[in-house]
Amino acid sequence: MIGKTLKHYDIDQLLGKGGMGVVYKAQDVRLGRPVALKILKTELTADPDKKRRFFQEARAASAVTHPAIAQIYDVDEIEGKTFMVMEFVEGKTVSQLIADRELDLIGAVEIAFQVADGLAQAHKANIVHRDIKSDNIMVTRDGHAKLLDFGLAKLLDTTGGMGSWSTIQNLTHTKTLPQTMEGTVMGTVAYMSPEQARGLAINLNSDVFSLGIVLYEMVTGELPFKGDSPLDTLHAIAFDEVRPVSIVRQNLPPEVHRIVTRCLRKRPEDRYQDAGYLAADLKHLKREIETGVQTTIPTGQRVQLMLGWLETSIPFGIKGIVGAVIIIVLLGFLIFTNIHWSILGGTVVLGLLVYRYIRNRKDRMVKRFVAKVSKFEEVKAIICSDSLLTVIVDKAQAKLYIRINSLIDSINKKLYFGQSLKAAVRDDLSEEDFQRVLRAPGVLYVREDVLLES
Ligand SMILES: Nc1ncnc2c1ncn2[C@@H]1O[C@H](COP(=O)(O)OP(=O)(O)OP(=O)(O)O)[C@@H](O)[C@H]1O
Ligand SMILES: [Mg+2]
Repeated sequence: MIGKTLKHYDIDQLLGKGGMGVVYKAQDVRLGRPVALKILKTELTADPDKKRRFFQEARAASAVTHPAIAQIYDVDEIEGKTFMVMEFVEGKTVSQLIADRELDLIGAVEIAFQVADGLAQAHKANIVHRDIKSDNIMVTRDGHAKLLDFGLAKLLDTTGGMGSWSTIQNLTHTKTLPQTMEGTVMGTVAYMSPEQARGLAINLNSDVFSLGIVLYEMVTGELPFKGDSPLDTLHAIAFDEVRPVSIVRQNLPPEVHRIVTRCLRKRPEDRYQDAGYLAADLKHLKREIETGVQTTIPTGQRVQLMLGWLETSIPFGIKGIVGAVIIIVLLGFLIFTNIHWSILGGTVVLGLLVYRYIRNRKDRMVKRFVAKVSKFEEVKAIICSDSLLTVIVDKAQAKLYIRINSLIDSINKKLYFGQSLKAAVRDDLSEEDFQRVLRAPGVLYVREDVLLES
């Protein structure tokens, strides 16, 4: 297919093969942008009824827009080839990141949160993904998660069809997988919900189960249910209790265990009912991990946490509130009494102090950013020019850029005016360029072992 043109898409390069088809990188020549084009296996769309339902589902899914969902641009059929065109995502799949050990706990929770947040958007429209798995989530180089293949799994979803319990029961008799199903069944079963595995009706909370498996896998590096054959795996999903995450990986916050367990309940009604509820808990967990707070918090710490929250959530924090109260009292005083020059002077000085505090807010947040990011040992230098923070590293790892993205996001939310911050992670600078950058203004951090050539 490479070099060919389908509709107005020039096919450039093979990206990968999955259970449902082959994915290519292509160029949309009309809009002049790269896209990912997935050509579906013909046997999946042979049944006209199924194909019609697939087009319907894709149309519904294309209406869901969220930064964590790879947008569907087009579905069509040309020369007997049914294909789906979607946003091209530059990055690695979560399964690659797990295999390369590029994720840490915060990174895993951040990705799960972003995906749950995107999925919640689809769930609001009553759209179930049906095929959440670590191969269908990619992470871009700037730390954003993207959920792929929305609307596709409907093709697999017929009772008694691929991967369903009745198929599996048939397999116990035949002992072999039907040719066309092999790849899909093998690849996908590990993330199925018990109701999917048993060929029963599925619901929004089936996606919650599958995302729970991805979270488990990201945190521990292992799948919770695995058997020697797809059939054994399905059996485990339907009946076996999962080994608690906190046993597979020690020293995890208890909240991680609680969230994963709630996702992986066998009975759909015992899980989070949709991804929105899961996203809310993951957001809370993210904050807990970042502040190093445990679930049972002593009162003293709770007060501190509250003050910390006030400091960051309310414009200019506690000092802001105190400042505003003082200004209001002073103004009242000035209005209702005879103004004395010393009071007026005091007010001006106070105003200047407040202004200075506001002006330096961004710098303080950048300082905090540098303190946190420089803890990663692969970080060689951090440079700020205008509103761009460039983090130079030995090797860009997902856990780092996911963390950077999340820090920048939270800083930008707290910047009430001025230009928002951006970040770039670079691991491609030549020694010469690196030395040049170090000599330019704006260097905020340099690792001790990095030598500056004279
Ligand atoms: N939108 C996309 N942007 C960039 N690369 C993609 C995109 N979609 C898929 N890919 C790449 O193509 C590979 C194959 O994707 P594909 O969806 O066919 O396989 P899969 O997810 O393993 O199986 P399934 O068919 O069950 O979804 C992926 O691993 C990914 O590297
Ligand atoms: Mg896929």
